[in-house]
Amino acid sequence: MARVAPEENYLQDLKDRFQEAEVLDDSQVPIIDFSGDPKYIVDAIAWACQEWGFFQAINHGVPIASMKNVLKLAKEIFNQTSEENEAYNSLGNKLSDDPSEAYRYGSGFNNRKDAKPIDLKYFLRLDYSLAQQEDIWPESPSYFREVMKEYHDQVSAFGHCLLDNISKGLGLENSYDLKVMGEKIICIMNYYLPYHTPELVKGVSAHSDPRAISILIQDDVGGLEVCKDGRWFAVKPVKYAFVVNIADQLQIMTNAKYKSAEHRVRAHPEKSRLSVVAFFGPGMDTVVGPLPEMVSEENPPLYRECATKDYLTQFYANGLDGKRSLDYVKLDRAKV
Ligand code: OGA
Ligand code: NI
Repeated sequence: MARVAPEENYLQDLKDRFQEAEVLDDSQVPIIDFSGDPKYIVDAIAWACQEWGFFQAINHGVPIASMKNVLKLAKEIFNQTSEENEAYNSLGNKLSDDPSEAYRYGSGFNNRKDAKPIDLKYFLRLDYSLAQQEDIWPESPSYFREVMKEYHDQVSAFGHCLLDNISKGLGLENSYDLKVMGEKIICIMNYYLPYHTPELVKGVSAHSDPRAISILIQDDVGGLEVCKDGRWFAVKPVKYAFVVNIADQLQIMTNAKYKSAEHRVRAHPEKSRLSVVAFFGPGMDTVVGPLPEMVSEENPPLYRECATKDYLTQFYANGLDGKRSLDYVKLDRAKV
């Protein structure tokens, strides 16, 4: 793929650069086998969510062909010119700040020209619900719609299975409480540019995802890292695994029993990298706060209730900045 960095403003300040020495071995990032005993799966997910907020899922039931197809599609999309991909943006090739657009192609984190330094990547973002409604899906590559529809059905089934297992692990009587977390799915394809001196740039700055859970496919290049107790771990690619992470709204709903995982991506010196992420969360009008089952007199609410659209608006306004977005809903007693 012949791509060059779009702008000059991607060099990181010294204090913000990733340090090589910080990254530890990946051996401890949990891998959960979904072909196992149902009780093992519930317990393994509960443990991983509580300890890491992050795990890899293998034998998850999504056909390998479907995963391969979506990666192949992503590869083809990023081989097209930016003009071809921008043609579907509602503002043509003008960059937009509106996170609610159904389809968006851009570079860096959020398309803002003044957001410096940018992450060294291109992305294509598709809001599945809006895109289906408005039928604005691209017609090129020719198999775009077919592949994305099939992938939606597959990843959404896996996402709902995950939410159900998470509910069980939390002992929630009513799995409906978490079902709302799968109302909306946003899909983002990421294409990371190589950079000869990776320590000077970032693929993606450290952040937690704002919604409920994120389900990611990465190719075999590597570079994704997760933070646990202040230390960074490499999430080494496992063929056809999904990388799953807990995002902010699930932290809020569980009153911090499960914490969103901070993660980032390191650029590679020679290779470009692809990932496809499905972000699951509630609809824009859904108000999210700690679930009644997750609070008690000894364990009072740590967060206030907040409409999803307000949470997301301030997330996009902040830019990627660790877990700062949670400050917006923290009550005084909350430390995380
Ligand atoms: C994201 C993200 C990681 C990756 O898109 O929010 O963290 O590996 N992506 O692409
Ligand atoms: Ni992320």
